[in-house]
Amino acid sequence: MKRLTVLDLQKKKADNEKIVMVTAYDYTMARLVDKAGVDMVLVGDSLGMVVQGHEDTLPVTVDEMAYHCRCVSRGLQRAHLVADLPFMSYQMSAEQALKTGAKMMQRGRAQSVKLEGGERSAEAIRRLVEAGVPVVGHVGLTPQSVHAMGGFKVQGRTDEGADAVMKDALAVVDAGAFCVVVEGVPAGLASELSAAVSVPTIGIGAGPSMDGQVLVCNDLLGMDLSFRPKFVKRYAQLQDTIIEAVGTYASEVRAGDFPGPEHCFTRKGPRRITKVY
Ligand code: KIV
Repeated sequence: MKRLTVLDLQKKKADNEKIVMVTAYDYTMARLVDKAGVDMVLVGDSLGMVVQGHEDTLPVTVDEMAYHCRCVSRGLQRAHLVADLPFMSYQMSAEQALKTGAKMMQRGRAQSVKLEGGERSAEAIRRLVEAGVPVVGHVGLTPQSVHAMGGFKVQGRTDEGADAVMKDALAVVDAGAFCVVVEGVPAGLASELSAAVSVPTIGIGAGPSMDGQVLVCNDLLGMDLSFRPKFVKRYAQLQDTIIEAVGTYASEVRAGDFPGPEHCFTRKGPRRITKVY
């Protein structure tokens, strides 16, 4: 089966067909979400939080992103693979963005890259697109700017803020982004934005009017039930399933019930009794 391309994804917007995107960080999860039929898989720098245990995405490096991206790439047959460019790997210059983009495409085997920011990232997007690297923009709540925003805060709640988010979206599309992720903005603004741009919009905490939706796979699977943001819907409670399964394994090992006879190997033929010890 062939992977979905930028053109396939743009056609979905034209055909009014919703785009389904989810994050993945390793081969096993990539195989599962691909089998489930998602259209896009994002190796998000959210891996800094859900895989590495940091409190934000800022410590994630380019080498770490490329490594996880390559693992995910091996697990995908159909879904389009997008890699995040991590914090400070594209903000310094368009040339730096190009270098990082090249690593994600060559070492990570991504089909496109995502970077945060609107007007301030337009030059980097232009340079990547000119070089043949498809780019997904990311506007609204941009987690790499957590300190500048004063926390992971919904953006565009005032007229001024809404204008800024809209300007950012138009700037990334004008710079050549083929798709835009819109995060953490009021649903009304997201709807206006989606109608104003020609490329597919993918929402997270941006309401139902977007051309597609993205969630972090660990969130939708309920891997950490203490994390309960408003925009997440849980489709499973894997935290409980995993704790129960591993707890049962531990009890059986301690009781001597595992392994049972069905888990043991047998030799071929009778044992020849020769004492060698
Ligand atoms: O890093 C990430 O997982 C993301 C999504 C939440 C859009 O950027």
